[in-house]
Amino acid sequence: MSIRFDPAAKTLTLLTRSTCYQMQISEFGYLLHLYYGQRAVENFRYLCQTADVGFSPNPYESKLDRRWSLDTLPQEYSSTNTADFRLSSLNLCAANGAWGADLRYVRHAVTPGAYAVTGMPCAFDKGGESETLAVVLRDASAGVEVELLYGVFPEQDVITRAARIRNTADKPLRLFKAASACLDLPFGRWELLHFHGRHAMERILERTPVATEIQTVSSRRGASSHQQNPFVILCREGANEDSGDCVAVMPVYSGSHRTDVERDQMGSVRVVTGIHDEQFSWQLNPGESFDTPQVLLSFSACGLTPLSQTLHRFLRGNICRSRWTNRRRPVLLNNWEATYFDFTADKLLRIAREARNLGVELFVLDDGWFGRRSDDNRALGDWFVNEDKLPGGLETLIAGIKELGLRFGLWVEPEMVSEDSDLYRAHPDWALTVPGRDPAMSRNQLVLDLARPEVVDWLYDTLSGLLRRCDISYIKWDMNRHLTDVYSHALPPERQGEAPHRYVLGLYSLLERLTAAFPEVLFEGCAGGGGRFDAGMLAYFPQIWCSDDTDPIERLSIQKGTSYGYPVSAVGSHVSASPNHQTGRGTPLGTRAVVAMAGSFGYELDPTRLSEEERREIPGQIQRFSRYYDLIHGGDYYRLEPDCGPESEAWSFVSPEKDEALLCLVVKHPEANPAPLHLRLKGLDPAARYRITQTFFGAAVPAALQADDSGDALPVLSGAALLYGGYTLPRLFGDYPSALIHLEKI
Ligand code: DGJ
Repeated sequence: MSIRFDPAAKTLTLLTRSTCYQMQISEFGYLLHLYYGQRAVENFRYLCQTADVGFSPNPYESKLDRRWSLDTLPQEYSSTNTADFRLSSLNLCAANGAWGADLRYVRHAVTPGAYAVTGMPCAFDKGGESETLAVVLRDASAGVEVELLYGVFPEQDVITRAARIRNTADKPLRLFKAASACLDLPFGRWELLHFHGRHAMERILERTPVATEIQTVSSRRGASSHQQNPFVILCREGANEDSGDCVAVMPVYSGSHRTDVERDQMGSVRVVTGIHDEQFSWQLNPGESFDTPQVLLSFSACGLTPLSQTLHRFLRGNICRSRWTNRRRPVLLNNWEATYFDFTADKLLRIAREARNLGVELFVLDDGWFGRRSDDNRALGDWFVNEDKLPGGLETLIAGIKELGLRFGLWVEPEMVSEDSDLYRAHPDWALTVPGRDPAMSRNQLVLDLARPEVVDWLYDTLSGLLRRCDISYIKWDMNRHLTDVYSHALPPERQGEAPHRYVLGLYSLLERLTAAFPEVLFEGCAGGGGRFDAGMLAYFPQIWCSDDTDPIERLSIQKGTSYGYPVSAVGSHVSASPNHQTGRGTPLGTRAVVAMAGSFGYELDPTRLSEEERREIPGQIQRFSRYYDLIHGGDYYRLEPDCGPESEAWSFVSPEKDEALLCLVVKHPEANPAPLHLRLKGLDPAARYRITQTFFGAAVPAALQADDSGDALPVLSGAALLYGGYTLPRLFGDYPSALIHLEKI
């Protein structure tokens, strides 16, 4: 039993393998949060001290006892216009114009299995592994019930949360904020880790102390965004990769989101997370309910590495639904950086032939194959082939690709429309635009109104038609602008605040239908790179193009930031040309492959332009990736910290049985006369003995070290030696050299 109710103490306790989450139905029917931390089966009510705090109001029923205040006690779900002045989770306006809700406990129920949230992806149960707790709170005067949903996945150490808000009155009410969860951390000094960035530089880690001003991690862009990923970690001051309390908060949502963190007057920290409340309102008619997106919570008492590994396993095991999640993904070549818009069928076939000769398995045709798409200013929405470029249509090209023994993949950007397109000319009202106002343009395109069911139906018919007609094994689903001028021409004025969330619901319903109808197609998400890299998208896309920045040195920080929350198998990562198209930097081909191997591997270059030497090198890279595939995608991921020597980035994969590991290292800043490069490995079995094979890459790496993978066999070392004493690499020279070090238990 992972959910326990103690009727005497009125505590509700959620237990996972190593964590405990506790709440209490307390005085006056309020639901207090008591504890979230390391597993301990106790009544934690003793932690809540009450005191008379000036200007912190008390419930009416407490009469002369002024020690009890919603403003100072930890809550499970806070509301506006009550005695709690801290961050609110719910803001509504009842039919009589009264704001807020005074939520009191009514009942609770425990059911086996995982709950679902209407119209949105959420954690699923693979067979009796989880339980759900539903706690109903009510404010009779506002005519509202809030059902707090808690999913407990004991073995995975994950608790999910969501809220279902029901109108129990006989008149409509309006929601203005409906958070997924509120989490109070009453004691301690906490730090906030979040992942910010920009186009082509996503998910860069920032760590700041939680201060008394409200810190907000959010997107108002209609997508989860390059700028602020919907994922934060709260950790105790000083926590590191291997020690200290950490809490992960990850909304399963792909639209505008908001996570606020506040340290209150008494030092208690509150986190409130969910849909962004700006430009949000929802009319709830009598009897209707509104489901918030789900949020995943996980706690680790042993630092950030186990927290990340828990999330990696959970996303792969309980969020990603695709059949491809655990299947070996094909090594692909994408023509975008090889040709951009400048291609013909012959040119594509030449590229594909060369790619096949190198060992590539899937050829992906990117942007530019449809309508009059000669550049990125036109034709989005016209999803019919451009026969000038591809005579005989996609079918003929695909036949040519298949004859080469390759599978075929195709790029689409379904959510968008160009003004210069047949679709826009036929349906101008299908685009999001404010009546009488010129819309903001971005990449000279507009966003289709996915809040309209007929738009979603049209997209489904168009895309499913394409997938039925043509032998397509893979789809790259792109999205290259954010939402502005959000106004749905199909919604009445009082419901315009629903348009942004309805857009996301429309998108999810489209993806739901398509992925169910074509389960064998591998879908890769993309939004100008990693502009919608979130748990919601991962439900449909087992991999997401991580960034439009393919420079391997820049990718080190992008992929490292991504690794805090997301598994390596979700990271689309390709070897591109040198000098790199985004930065102009030259890097060794081997290093580009070492970085791209920390993901769903592929190539993004023109193989017909490779030198003989490069042509000889690539088949070895593909074989190496295939050999280590299970270790990379199925192993435990460790961020390593070189503690000496030139500036470098290192990470490793360790098999679940600890019988194999792969250590990857890239030198970011080669130095003259450097100190030895040293680091300590992680996750190995101290009692085991490992045979080590080193392979080094880089133009100036001494030839004697540039072994093939038969490698420079080293003496066998014990796990204990590698864990405690560490490992020292030889001196590496030249620009951005790298190393792959394979360890095999003997
Ligand atoms: C943005 C993507 O991230 C790129 O990989 C490429 O597909 C372009 N869009 C095509 O327009």
